[in-house]
Amino acid sequence: MPRIEIDGTTLHYEDTLRGERAVLLLHAFPLHSGMWADQLAALADHRVIAPDARGLGQSSPAAAPCSMARLAEDARALLAALGVDRAAVVGLSMGGYVAFELYRRAPGLFQGLVLSDTRPGADSAEGRAGRERFAQTALDRGLGWVADEMLPKLLRPGAPAATAARVRAWIADGTVEGVAAAQRAMAARPDSGPTLPTITCPTLVMVGADDALTPPVEAEAMACAIAGSELVSIPDAGHLPCVENPAAFNRALRGFLARLPA
Ligand code: MLT
Repeated sequence: MPRIEIDGTTLHYEDTLRGERAVLLLHAFPLHSGMWADQLAALADHRVIAPDARGLGQSSPAAAPCSMARLAEDARALLAALGVDRAAVVGLSMGGYVAFELYRRAPGLFQGLVLSDTRPGADSAEGRAGRERFAQTALDRGLGWVADEMLPKLLRPGAPAATAARVRAWIADGTVEGVAAAQRAMAARPDSGPTLPTITCPTLVMVGADDALTPPVEAEAMACAIAGSELVSIPDAGHLPCVENPAAFNRALRGFLARLPA
């Protein structure tokens, strides 16, 4: 498993080293690159790069408070270190928040953008307070509590037990410090609403049809605000369509990637 030192943190990442065109996969909270296993396998004709965000998966926690800006700079530094100057960027939920930040900092890097199960808006004061409570409780009660809290939000009702077990295991791979830091970083994220009309690269918005956390109605509004974007709803999936219905997710993703101009 490759690792790289970036700004005082050791980041773990996957890199398939296949194909000429690069795809950067940015995962959801509180998971890691393992959630992209089906995409890493399916995108055989692309170079697929998928980092674990600081503090999650096998990447070490941030020494200092984390932020979407830090996570975006991590992704940018990783691509630069790997010699990749253009990529299709796929961000799911928290990964989408990072993708917005990365777009603001380096729009020329984007060959295309896929926003899955994410939202542009910042948190309300109540939302920020909820994230701080979550961070404190995670530190007190551990990753088992984090998994119990998150699983019903991440997966559609009635998701197979095997899928829930996979997601639980990914959460267990992190650290409570990393989980708390990521929650606090999301709480402090800026409003990306004003970024949407500035996005000029080809964009695909995807959403699990049963996503309760970032519901389809929000995906529709986001797609409307990005000129020329496409919207695809993934059936039989909640907040993690790449995991819950990888066949439909990959079909939409591969079709989008195939249509990207050189
Ligand atoms: C995620 O799936 O990345 C998070 O649930 C997003 C969030 O908490 O806003």
